[in-house]
Amino acid sequence: MMQTRFLEGPAVRWPDEAPGPVRATSLRLRSFDHLLRQVWPVPQGLHAVDLGAGHGMFAARARRHGFRVTAVDARDRWTPAEAIAGAAPVTGQEDDPDLVWVKEDARDHDLAPYDVIFIIGLIYHLPLAAQLDLLSRCAGRPTVVDTEIFDAADPAARACERLSPAIGAGFDGAFMRETGNHWSAADLTDSFWPTQDAFLAMCAQAGCQSVAMVDPPYRSRFGPRRWFVLDGPE
Ligand SMILES: C[S@@+](CC[C@H](N)C(=O)[O-])C[C@H]1O[C@@H](n2cnc3c(N)ncnc32)[C@H](O)[C@@H]1O
Repeated sequence: MMQTRFLEGPAVRWPDEAPGPVRATSLRLRSFDHLLRQVWPVPQGLHAVDLGAGHGMFAARARRHGFRVTAVDARDRWTPAEAIAGAAPVTGQEDDPDLVWVKEDARDHDLAPYDVIFIIGLIYHLPLAAQLDLLSRCAGRPTVVDTEIFDAADPAARACERLSPAIGAGFDGAFMRETGNHWSAADLTDSFWPTQDAFLAMCAQAGCQSVAMVDPPYRSRFGPRRWFVLDGPE
């Protein structure tokens, strides 16, 4: 039986209105720093993978904290500002041999070499079957997930024309029409957004033993969003 518990989140003040992507990334980076300090105070020697690394700032933070990091994305590396401006992505080359960039689909990336897995802003860009497959490949290994949560009663979710009820999907949630921009699914037109209960049920089905829900959740422009630590250290 999977155990669930709450984990105290950082004292980051979110504005009442959902911030734009650059400001939101900055607040999420502070939350990630807090989580790393809380859960892995001494990460030296551990190898982490950052799936859907995008602009690479979470990977760089984890490296700075002491992890050896492999950053994986289906796209070339980009920055939030460049993505918003529509400019071409940059291919940032780091001199640090312990921060490696790999251009590959997360669904194909072998997770066996890693001690810790980060899935930050990625899982809700995948279809349900791919989410279940990814979660089952992570089960048993500490995994940090930052994801949107579908709440049909939330005004932001109700106002979003790209979300539609996922009737008959097997888990409660919605289908999201992807945009094709840098923040979105690399090669898909639709993804699945589970409710929080459905996400926990998916973790249990995938074989996770424990889920820590970082409290409080926060808000994106589509509704609630939350950090989770699956099968984390005690
Ligand atoms: C919302 S952005 C998240 C970027 C960063 N992790 C963050 O949270 O700010 C989603 C990223 O996932 C990447 N992505 C989408 N589908 C992917 C896939 N199947 N495999 C690997 N990367 C993917 C996109 O290219 C994009 O960089």
